[in-house]
Amino acid sequence: MGNKQKMWAGRFSKQADERVNDFNSSISFDCRMYKQDIEGSIAHATMLGKQGIIEQGESEKIIAGLKEISQDISDGKLLFDPDAEDIHMFVEANLTGRLGDTGKRLHTSRSRNDQVALDIRMYMRDEIKNIVELVKQLLEVIIKLAKDNLTTVMPGYTHLQRAQPITLAHHLMAYAQMLLRDLDRFKDAYRRTNCMPLGSCALAGTTYPIDREFVADMLGFDEVCQNSLDGVSDRDFCIDFLTAVSTLMMHLSRFSEEIVLWCSWEFKFIELDDAYCTGSSIMPQKKNPDITELIRGKTARVYGDLNTLLTMMKGLSLAYNKDMQEDKEAVFDAVDTAKLCLITFIPMLETMKVIPENMRSAAAKGFINATDCADYLVKKGMSFRDAYKITGTLVAQCIEKNTDLENLPLEEYEKMTNLFNNDVYEAINLETCVMQRNSQGGPAPEAVKKQIEYTQNKLDKYKLF
Ligand code: ARG
Repeated sequence: MGNKQKMWAGRFSKQADERVNDFNSSISFDCRMYKQDIEGSIAHATMLGKQGIIEQGESEKIIAGLKEISQDISDGKLLFDPDAEDIHMFVEANLTGRLGDTGKRLHTSRSRNDQVALDIRMYMRDEIKNIVELVKQLLEVIIKLAKDNLTTVMPGYTHLQRAQPITLAHHLMAYAQMLLRDLDRFKDAYRRTNCMPLGSCALAGTTYPIDREFVADMLGFDEVCQNSLDGVSDRDFCIDFLTAVSTLMMHLSRFSEEIVLWCSWEFKFIELDDAYCTGSSIMPQKKNPDITELIRGKTARVYGDLNTLLTMMKGLSLAYNKDMQEDKEAVFDAVDTAKLCLITFIPMLETMKVIPENMRSAAAKGFINATDCADYLVKKGMSFRDAYKITGTLVAQCIEKNTDLENLPLEEYEKMTNLFNNDVYEAINLETCVMQRNSQGGPAPEAVKKQIEYTQNKLDKYKLF
Protein backbone atom coordinates (compact mmCIF):
# COMPACT_ATOMS: atom_id res chain seq x y z
CA MET A 1 0.00 0.00 0.00
CA GLY A 2 1.26 3.49 -0.81
CA ASN A 3 1.84 6.17 1.75
CA LYS A 4 0.10 9.39 0.80
CA GLN A 5 -0.10 12.47 2.96
CA LYS A 6 -2.39 11.67 5.90
CA MET A 7 -5.29 13.80 7.04
CA TRP A 8 -3.49 14.26 10.37
CA ALA A 9 -0.06 15.03 8.85
CA GLY A 10 0.05 18.40 10.66
CA ARG A 11 0.40 16.72 14.04
CA PHE A 12 3.03 14.23 12.92
CA SER A 13 6.69 14.68 12.10
CA LYS A 14 6.98 11.37 10.25
CA GLN A 15 4.89 9.41 7.80
CA ALA A 16 3.40 6.14 8.98
CA ASP A 17 5.44 3.03 8.36
CA GLU A 18 4.16 1.22 5.28
CA ARG A 19 3.38 -1.87 7.38
CA VAL A 20 1.38 0.19 9.86
CA ASN A 21 -0.69 1.52 7.00
CA ASP A 22 -1.55 -1.96 5.83
CA PHE A 23 -2.20 -3.15 9.34
CA ASN A 24 -4.51 -0.26 10.14
CA SER A 25 -6.50 -0.21 6.97
CA SER A 26 -10.04 -1.56 6.88
CA ILE A 27 -11.15 -0.41 3.44
CA SER A 28 -10.72 -3.88 1.98
CA PHE A 29 -13.75 -4.98 3.99
CA ASP A 30 -15.62 -1.91 5.21
CA CYS A 31 -16.07 -0.79 1.58
CA ARG A 32 -19.11 -3.03 1.59
CA MET A 33 -20.85 -0.38 3.74
CA TYR A 34 -20.35 2.43 1.23
CA LYS A 35 -24.07 2.93 0.60
CA GLN A 36 -24.85 3.17 4.29
CA ASP A 37 -21.87 5.46 4.84
CA ILE A 38 -23.02 7.84 2.12
CA GLU A 39 -26.66 7.75 3.19
CA GLY A 40 -25.58 8.59 6.74
CA SER A 41 -23.40 11.44 5.48
CA ILE A 42 -26.29 12.84 3.43
CA ALA A 43 -28.48 12.91 6.55
CA HIS A 44 -25.66 14.51 8.53
CA ALA A 45 -25.05 17.19 5.87
CA THR A 46 -28.79 17.89 5.66
CA MET A 47 -28.91 18.41 9.42
CA LEU A 48 -25.81 20.64 9.40
CA GLY A 49 -27.45 22.86 6.76
CA LYS A 50 -30.83 22.94 8.51
CA GLN A 51 -29.21 23.91 11.80
CA GLY A 52 -27.10 26.62 10.16
CA ILE A 53 -23.89 24.87 11.26
CA ILE A 54 -22.79 25.03 7.62
CA GLU A 55 -24.39 27.15 4.93
CA GLN A 56 -27.47 25.74 3.24
CA GLY A 57 -25.83 26.07 -0.19
CA GLU A 58 -22.80 24.11 0.97
CA SER A 59 -24.98 21.45 2.46
CA GLU A 60 -26.73 21.06 -0.89
CA LYS A 61 -23.45 20.81 -2.77
CA ILE A 62 -22.19 18.18 -0.34
CA ILE A 63 -25.36 16.15 -0.73
CA ALA A 64 -25.17 16.32 -4.52
CA GLY A 65 -21.48 15.33 -4.39
CA LEU A 66 -22.22 12.37 -2.12
CA LYS A 67 -24.98 11.16 -4.44
CA GLU A 68 -22.57 11.31 -7.36
CA ILE A 69 -19.97 9.32 -5.45
CA SER A 70 -22.55 6.66 -4.61
CA GLN A 71 -23.64 6.47 -8.24
CA ASP A 72 -20.06 6.32 -9.50
CA ILE A 73 -19.20 3.50 -7.13
CA SER A 74 -22.24 1.44 -8.10
CA ASP A 75 -21.58 2.10 -11.80
CA GLY A 76 -18.03 0.86 -11.32
CA LYS A 77 -16.62 4.26 -12.35
CA LEU A 78 -15.07 4.91 -8.98
CA LEU A 79 -12.89 2.17 -7.52
CA PHE A 80 -11.99 1.91 -3.85
CA ASP A 81 -8.52 3.20 -3.20
CA PRO A 82 -6.56 0.63 -1.19
CA ASP A 83 -4.48 3.51 0.16
CA ALA A 84 -7.49 4.97 1.95
CA GLU A 85 -7.58 3.95 5.58
CA ASP A 86 -11.25 3.13 5.59
CA ILE A 87 -14.51 3.75 3.74
CA HIS A 88 -15.20 6.91 5.74
CA MET A 89 -11.87 8.52 4.79
CA PHE A 90 -12.27 7.35 1.21
CA VAL A 91 -15.66 8.98 0.70
CA GLU A 92 -14.63 12.19 2.44
CA ALA A 93 -11.37 12.50 0.48
CA ASN A 94 -13.21 11.86 -2.76
CA LEU A 95 -15.82 14.46 -1.89
CA THR A 96 -13.13 17.02 -1.16
CA GLY A 97 -11.48 16.10 -4.44
CA ARG A 98 -14.75 16.93 -6.19
CA LEU A 99 -15.86 19.97 -4.21
CA GLY A 100 -12.69 21.46 -2.78
CA ASP A 101 -13.12 23.36 0.49
CA THR A 102 -16.85 22.68 0.71
CA GLY A 103 -16.15 18.96 0.98
CA LYS A 104 -13.99 19.64 4.02
CA ARG A 105 -17.04 20.90 5.92
CA LEU A 106 -18.87 17.55 5.97
CA HIS A 107 -17.00 16.19 8.96
CA THR A 108 -18.04 19.10 11.19
CA SER A 109 -19.44 17.78 14.45
CA ARG A 110 -18.78 14.18 13.57
CA SER A 111 -16.14 11.55 14.22
CA ARG A 112 -15.44 8.29 12.49
CA ASN A 113 -16.29 6.75 15.83
CA ASP A 114 -19.97 7.64 15.61
CA GLN A 115 -19.90 7.35 11.83
CA VAL A 116 -18.78 3.72 11.85
CA ALA A 117 -21.29 2.90 14.60
CA LEU A 118 -24.00 4.35 12.38
CA ASP A 119 -22.84 2.50 9.27
CA ILE A 120 -22.73 -0.91 10.89
CA ARG A 121 -26.19 -0.42 12.39
CA MET A 122 -27.60 0.55 9.00
CA TYR A 123 -25.85 -2.33 7.31
CA MET A 124 -27.19 -4.78 9.87
CA ARG A 125 -30.74 -3.48 9.53
CA ASP A 126 -30.57 -4.29 5.80
CA GLU A 127 -29.08 -7.71 6.32
CA ILE A 128 -31.45 -8.70 9.13
CA LYS A 129 -34.27 -8.01 6.66
CA ASN A 130 -32.61 -10.28 4.07
CA ILE A 131 -32.00 -13.13 6.50
CA VAL A 132 -35.53 -12.89 7.88
CA GLU A 133 -36.96 -13.16 4.34
CA LEU A 134 -34.99 -16.36 3.80
CA VAL A 135 -36.06 -17.84 7.14
CA LYS A 136 -39.67 -17.12 6.20
CA GLN A 137 -39.18 -18.89 2.87
CA LEU A 138 -37.74 -21.88 4.67
CA LEU A 139 -40.72 -21.97 7.01
CA GLU A 140 -43.12 -21.97 4.04
CA VAL A 141 -41.26 -24.95 2.55
CA ILE A 142 -41.40 -26.81 5.86
CA ILE A 143 -45.12 -26.14 6.25
CA LYS A 144 -45.81 -27.39 2.73
CA LEU A 145 -43.78 -30.55 3.35
CA ALA A 146 -45.57 -31.10 6.66
CA LYS A 147 -48.99 -30.73 5.03
CA ASP A 148 -48.02 -33.43 2.53
CA ASN A 149 -46.84 -35.79 5.28
CA LEU A 150 -49.47 -35.60 8.00
CA THR A 151 -49.89 -39.38 7.99
CA THR A 152 -46.34 -40.40 7.09
CA VAL A 153 -45.51 -42.56 10.10
CA MET A 154 -41.88 -42.62 11.19
CA PRO A 155 -39.99 -43.52 14.35
CA GLY A 156 -39.48 -40.78 16.87
CA TYR A 157 -36.13 -41.07 18.66
CA THR A 158 -34.51 -40.34 21.97
CA HIS A 159 -30.80 -41.11 22.33
CA LEU A 160 -31.09 -41.93 18.62
CA GLN A 161 -32.90 -45.09 19.73
CA ARG A 162 -36.36 -45.73 18.35
CA ALA A 163 -38.75 -44.43 20.99
CA GLN A 164 -42.34 -43.75 19.95
CA PRO A 165 -44.12 -43.43 16.62
CA ILE A 166 -44.59 -39.96 15.19
CA THR A 167 -45.14 -38.57 11.71
CA LEU A 168 -42.78 -36.73 9.42
CA ALA A 169 -45.10 -33.73 9.64
CA HIS A 170 -44.74 -33.73 13.42
CA HIS A 171 -40.98 -33.96 13.15
CA LEU A 172 -40.79 -31.14 10.61
CA MET A 173 -43.03 -28.87 12.62
CA ALA A 174 -40.56 -29.11 15.50
CA TYR A 175 -38.08 -27.29 13.25
CA ALA A 176 -40.78 -24.80 12.35
CA GLN A 177 -41.06 -23.85 16.03
CA MET A 178 -37.31 -23.31 16.24
CA LEU A 179 -37.40 -21.06 13.20
CA LEU A 180 -40.33 -19.07 14.60
CA ARG A 181 -38.22 -18.39 17.66
CA ASP A 182 -35.35 -17.38 15.37
CA LEU A 183 -37.61 -14.84 13.71
CA ASP A 184 -38.39 -13.51 17.15
CA ARG A 185 -34.72 -13.23 18.01
CA PHE A 186 -34.01 -11.33 14.78
CA LYS A 187 -36.85 -8.96 15.60
CA ASP A 188 -35.31 -8.35 18.97
CA ALA A 189 -31.83 -7.83 17.48
CA TYR A 190 -33.33 -5.44 14.94
CA ARG A 191 -35.04 -3.39 17.63
CA ARG A 192 -31.78 -2.89 19.51
CA THR A 193 -29.87 -2.19 16.31
CA ASN A 194 -32.32 0.49 15.31
CA CYS A 195 -30.93 3.15 17.62
CA MET A 196 -29.04 6.13 16.15
CA PRO A 197 -25.50 6.85 17.42
CA LEU A 198 -24.54 9.82 15.22
CA GLY A 199 -24.00 12.98 17.28
CA SER A 200 -22.05 11.04 19.90
CA CYS A 201 -19.09 12.36 17.90
CA ALA A 202 -15.71 11.14 19.12
CA LEU A 203 -17.03 10.31 22.60
CA ALA A 204 -18.25 13.48 24.28
CA GLY A 205 -20.89 14.93 22.01
CA THR A 206 -20.35 18.37 20.55
CA THR A 207 -20.62 22.10 21.11
CA TYR A 208 -22.56 22.58 17.85
CA PRO A 209 -26.35 22.89 17.98
CA ILE A 210 -27.00 19.53 16.27
CA ASP A 211 -30.41 17.88 15.87
CA ARG A 212 -30.00 14.18 16.45
CA GLU A 213 -33.71 13.37 16.34
CA PHE A 214 -33.88 14.85 12.86
CA VAL A 215 -31.06 12.62 11.64
CA ALA A 216 -32.67 9.60 13.30
CA ASP A 217 -35.99 10.34 11.58
CA MET A 218 -34.35 10.85 8.25
CA LEU A 219 -32.56 7.50 8.47
CA GLY A 220 -35.57 5.60 9.83
CA PHE A 221 -34.25 4.99 13.35
CA ASP A 222 -36.68 4.50 16.23
CA GLU A 223 -34.62 6.47 18.72
CA VAL A 224 -31.20 8.00 19.35
CA CYS A 225 -28.51 6.45 21.57
CA GLN A 226 -28.88 8.21 24.90
CA ASN A 227 -25.26 8.47 26.01
CA SER A 228 -22.45 9.58 23.73
CA LEU A 229 -19.84 7.29 25.32
CA ASP A 230 -22.15 4.33 24.88
CA GLY A 231 -23.13 5.51 21.41
CA VAL A 232 -19.59 5.01 20.09
CA SER A 233 -18.58 2.01 22.18
CA ASP A 234 -21.68 -0.17 22.14
CA ARG A 235 -21.52 -3.32 20.02
CA ASP A 236 -24.17 -5.22 21.99
CA PHE A 237 -26.43 -5.11 18.98
CA CYS A 238 -23.78 -6.98 16.94
CA ILE A 239 -23.59 -9.59 19.68
CA ASP A 240 -27.39 -9.86 19.77
CA PHE A 241 -27.40 -10.35 16.04
CA LEU A 242 -24.58 -12.90 16.07
CA THR A 243 -26.35 -14.76 18.85
CA ALA A 244 -29.49 -14.90 16.73
CA VAL A 245 -27.50 -16.08 13.69
CA SER A 246 -25.65 -18.66 15.80
CA THR A 247 -28.91 -20.08 17.12
CA LEU A 248 -30.37 -20.16 13.62
CA MET A 249 -27.25 -21.97 12.41
CA MET A 250 -27.51 -24.43 15.29
CA HIS A 251 -31.06 -25.24 14.15
CA LEU A 252 -29.99 -25.63 10.52
CA SER A 253 -27.12 -27.79 11.68
CA ARG A 254 -29.35 -30.14 13.67
CA PHE A 255 -31.73 -30.40 10.73
CA SER A 256 -28.73 -31.04 8.47
CA GLU A 257 -27.45 -33.78 10.73
CA GLU A 258 -30.80 -35.54 10.50
CA ILE A 259 -30.80 -35.23 6.74
CA VAL A 260 -27.31 -36.74 6.64
CA LEU A 261 -28.64 -39.68 8.65
CA TRP A 262 -31.90 -39.96 6.72
CA CYS A 263 -30.23 -40.22 3.33
CA SER A 264 -27.75 -42.88 4.48
CA TRP A 265 -28.44 -46.46 3.39
CA GLU A 266 -28.91 -47.35 7.06
CA PHE A 267 -32.02 -45.12 7.17
CA LYS A 268 -33.00 -44.27 3.56
CA PHE A 269 -35.93 -42.20 4.76
CA ILE A 270 -35.29 -39.67 2.02
CA GLU A 271 -33.49 -39.21 -1.26
CA LEU A 272 -31.88 -35.86 -1.99
CA ASP A 273 -32.12 -34.45 -5.48
CA ASP A 274 -28.96 -35.04 -7.52
CA ALA A 275 -28.60 -31.28 -7.95
CA TYR A 276 -27.91 -30.96 -4.23
CA CYS A 277 -25.40 -33.77 -3.82
CA THR A 278 -21.89 -34.56 -4.95
CA GLY A 279 -20.12 -37.71 -6.00
CA SER A 280 -16.79 -39.17 -5.01
CA SER A 281 -13.61 -38.96 -7.05
CA ILE A 282 -12.87 -42.64 -6.36
CA MET A 283 -16.02 -44.47 -5.27
CA PRO A 284 -18.41 -44.58 -8.22
CA GLN A 285 -21.47 -45.49 -6.14
CA LYS A 286 -21.29 -42.48 -3.84
CA LYS A 287 -23.81 -39.69 -3.53
CA ASN A 288 -22.87 -37.43 -0.67
CA PRO A 289 -25.01 -34.88 1.16
CA ASP A 290 -22.29 -32.22 1.10
CA ILE A 291 -24.61 -29.25 1.57
CA THR A 292 -25.88 -30.48 4.88
CA GLU A 293 -22.39 -31.40 6.05
CA LEU A 294 -21.13 -27.97 5.09
CA ILE A 295 -23.96 -26.30 6.96
CA ARG A 296 -22.96 -28.27 10.04
CA GLY A 297 -19.37 -27.18 9.49
CA LYS A 298 -20.19 -23.56 8.79
CA THR A 299 -22.14 -23.37 12.02
CA ALA A 300 -18.75 -23.60 13.72
CA ARG A 301 -17.45 -20.53 11.94
CA VAL A 302 -20.52 -18.49 12.87
CA TYR A 303 -20.01 -19.49 16.51
CA GLY A 304 -16.44 -18.28 15.96
CA ASP A 305 -17.77 -14.93 14.76
CA LEU A 306 -19.88 -14.57 17.89
CA ASN A 307 -16.88 -15.48 20.00
CA THR A 308 -14.77 -12.90 18.20
CA LEU A 309 -17.17 -10.15 19.21
CA LEU A 310 -17.61 -11.32 22.78
CA THR A 311 -13.88 -11.66 23.31
CA MET A 312 -13.06 -8.45 21.48
CA MET A 313 -15.37 -6.44 23.73
CA LYS A 314 -14.65 -7.93 27.12
CA GLY A 315 -11.63 -5.84 28.10
CA LEU A 316 -12.36 -2.55 26.37
CA SER A 317 -12.35 0.61 28.42
CA LEU A 318 -14.76 3.33 27.32
CA ALA A 319 -15.14 4.63 24.76
CA TYR A 320 -13.96 3.75 21.21
CA ASN A 321 -10.89 1.54 20.82
CA LYS A 322 -9.42 0.42 17.55
CA ASP A 323 -10.04 -3.20 18.56
CA MET A 324 -13.61 -2.52 17.54
CA GLN A 325 -12.63 -2.41 13.89
CA GLU A 326 -12.54 -6.21 14.18
CA ASP A 327 -16.34 -6.31 14.56
CA LYS A 328 -17.10 -5.93 10.89
CA GLU A 329 -15.45 -8.97 9.36
CA ALA A 330 -17.12 -11.17 11.96
CA VAL A 331 -20.54 -9.65 11.28
CA PHE A 332 -20.02 -9.80 7.51
CA ASP A 333 -18.89 -13.40 7.68
CA ALA A 334 -21.92 -14.43 9.71
CA VAL A 335 -24.25 -12.60 7.29
CA ASP A 336 -22.66 -14.21 4.23
CA THR A 337 -22.55 -17.66 5.79
CA ALA A 338 -26.13 -17.67 7.04
CA LYS A 339 -27.49 -16.40 3.73
CA LEU A 340 -25.48 -18.93 1.74
CA CYS A 341 -26.64 -21.78 3.97
CA LEU A 342 -30.30 -20.76 3.72
CA ILE A 343 -30.13 -20.19 -0.02
CA THR A 344 -28.92 -23.75 -0.60
CA PHE A 345 -30.84 -25.47 2.18
CA ILE A 346 -34.25 -24.20 1.04
CA PRO A 347 -34.28 -25.68 -2.49
CA MET A 348 -32.54 -28.82 -1.23
CA LEU A 349 -35.40 -29.39 1.20
CA GLU A 350 -37.98 -28.46 -1.40
CA THR A 351 -36.71 -31.08 -3.86
CA MET A 352 -36.02 -33.81 -1.29
CA LYS A 353 -37.96 -37.02 -1.97
CA VAL A 354 -39.56 -38.65 1.05
CA ILE A 355 -39.64 -42.47 1.14
CA PRO A 356 -42.65 -43.16 3.42
CA GLU A 357 -42.41 -46.96 3.21
CA ASN A 358 -38.90 -46.92 4.68
CA MET A 359 -39.99 -44.64 7.49
CA ARG A 360 -42.97 -46.92 8.15
CA SER A 361 -40.89 -50.09 8.24
CA ALA A 362 -38.29 -48.49 10.53
CA ALA A 363 -41.14 -47.54 12.84
CA ALA A 364 -42.27 -51.16 12.92
CA LYS A 365 -38.96 -52.16 14.47
CA GLY A 366 -37.58 -51.39 17.89
CA PHE A 367 -40.77 -51.93 19.94
CA ILE A 368 -41.80 -48.39 19.32
CA ASN A 369 -45.35 -49.24 20.46
CA ALA A 370 -44.31 -50.58 23.88
CA THR A 371 -45.56 -47.44 25.66
CA ASP A 372 -48.90 -47.90 23.90
CA CYS A 373 -49.06 -51.51 25.07
CA ALA A 374 -48.54 -50.31 28.66
CA ASP A 375 -51.09 -47.53 28.17
CA TYR A 376 -53.56 -50.17 26.95
CA LEU A 377 -53.36 -51.88 30.37
CA VAL A 378 -53.58 -48.55 32.19
CA LYS A 379 -56.78 -47.75 30.32
CA LYS A 380 -58.11 -51.10 31.62
CA GLY A 381 -57.41 -50.08 35.21
CA MET A 382 -53.82 -51.14 35.93
CA SER A 383 -51.30 -48.67 37.40
CA PHE A 384 -48.76 -47.37 34.90
CA ARG A 385 -45.78 -48.83 36.78
CA ASP A 386 -47.26 -52.35 36.79
CA ALA A 387 -48.23 -52.04 33.15
CA TYR A 388 -44.71 -50.82 32.34
CA LYS A 389 -43.20 -53.86 34.02
CA ILE A 390 -45.45 -56.35 32.24
CA THR A 391 -44.75 -54.73 28.88
CA GLY A 392 -41.03 -54.84 29.58
CA THR A 393 -41.27 -58.56 30.19
CA LEU A 394 -43.23 -59.03 26.96
CA VAL A 395 -40.59 -57.07 25.03
CA ALA A 396 -37.86 -59.29 26.49
CA GLN A 397 -39.82 -62.36 25.39
CA CYS A 398 -40.20 -60.95 21.88
CA ILE A 399 -36.47 -60.31 21.65
CA GLU A 400 -35.78 -63.84 22.77
CA LYS A 401 -38.24 -65.27 20.23
CA ASN A 402 -37.10 -62.90 17.54
CA THR A 403 -40.57 -61.45 17.04
CA ASP A 404 -42.40 -58.21 17.86
CA LEU A 405 -45.41 -57.16 19.91
CA GLU A 406 -47.67 -57.18 16.84
CA ASN A 407 -46.88 -60.86 16.18
CA LEU A 408 -46.70 -62.20 19.71
CA PRO A 409 -49.59 -64.71 20.19
CA LEU A 410 -52.47 -63.63 22.42
CA GLU A 411 -51.85 -66.51 24.88
CA GLU A 412 -48.45 -65.00 25.72
CA TYR A 413 -50.19 -61.73 26.53
CA GLU A 414 -52.87 -63.51 28.57
CA LYS A 415 -50.23 -65.31 30.62
CA MET A 416 -49.18 -61.91 31.97
CA THR A 417 -52.64 -60.60 32.87
CA ASN A 418 -56.21 -61.33 31.90
CA LEU A 419 -56.70 -57.66 31.11
CA PHE A 420 -55.27 -58.43 27.67
CA ASN A 421 -57.81 -59.16 24.92
CA ASN A 422 -57.70 -59.44 21.18
CA ASP A 423 -58.14 -55.66 20.93
CA VAL A 424 -54.52 -55.23 22.12
CA TYR A 425 -53.41 -55.67 18.49
CA GLU A 426 -55.51 -52.72 17.42
CA ALA A 427 -54.13 -50.65 20.34
CA ILE A 428 -50.53 -51.30 19.39
CA ASN A 429 -51.04 -50.86 15.67
CA LEU A 430 -48.68 -48.06 14.66
CA GLU A 431 -51.31 -46.04 12.85
CA THR A 432 -53.56 -46.26 15.90
CA CYS A 433 -50.67 -45.27 18.16
CA VAL A 434 -50.08 -42.12 16.13
CA MET A 435 -53.77 -41.27 15.74
CA GLN A 436 -54.33 -41.56 19.46
CA ARG A 437 -51.51 -39.21 20.37
CA ASN A 438 -53.89 -36.39 19.90
CA SER A 439 -52.74 -34.30 22.85
CA GLN A 440 -51.96 -30.66 22.12
CA GLY A 441 -48.57 -30.57 20.39
CA GLY A 442 -48.64 -34.30 19.67
CA PRO A 443 -48.13 -36.23 16.41
CA ALA A 444 -51.76 -37.11 15.56
CA PRO A 445 -52.64 -35.51 12.21
CA GLU A 446 -55.33 -33.37 13.85
CA ALA A 447 -52.86 -32.10 16.45
CA VAL A 448 -50.21 -31.38 13.80
CA LYS A 449 -52.77 -29.55 11.65
CA LYS A 450 -53.26 -27.20 14.59
CA GLN A 451 -49.49 -26.69 14.86
CA ILE A 452 -49.38 -25.87 11.17
CA GLU A 453 -52.23 -23.39 11.53
CA TYR A 454 -50.55 -21.75 14.51
CA THR A 455 -47.25 -21.47 12.67
CA GLN A 456 -48.78 -20.14 9.46
CA ASN A 457 -50.70 -17.58 11.46
CA LYS A 458 -47.56 -16.42 13.28
CA LEU A 459 -45.73 -16.25 9.99
CA ASP A 460 -48.45 -14.22 8.28
CA LYS A 461 -48.60 -11.80 11.18
CA TYR A 462 -44.84 -11.47 11.62
CA LYS A 463 -43.44 -7.98 11.23
CA LEU A 464 -39.77 -7.21 11.69
CA PHE A 465 -40.49 -3.59 12.67
N1 ARG B 1 -12.15 1.91 10.58
C1 ARG B 1 -12.55 2.25 11.91
C2 ARG B 1 -13.43 1.09 12.47
O1 ARG B 1 -13.86 0.30 11.73
C3 ARG B 1 -13.36 3.49 11.90
C4 ARG B 1 -13.27 4.27 13.16
C5 ARG B 1 -11.89 4.74 13.36
N2 ARG B 1 -11.78 5.67 14.44
C6 ARG B 1 -10.59 6.04 14.90
N3 ARG B 1 -10.60 6.89 15.85
N4 ARG B 1 -9.49 5.54 14.45
O2 ARG B 1 -13.65 1.00 13.65
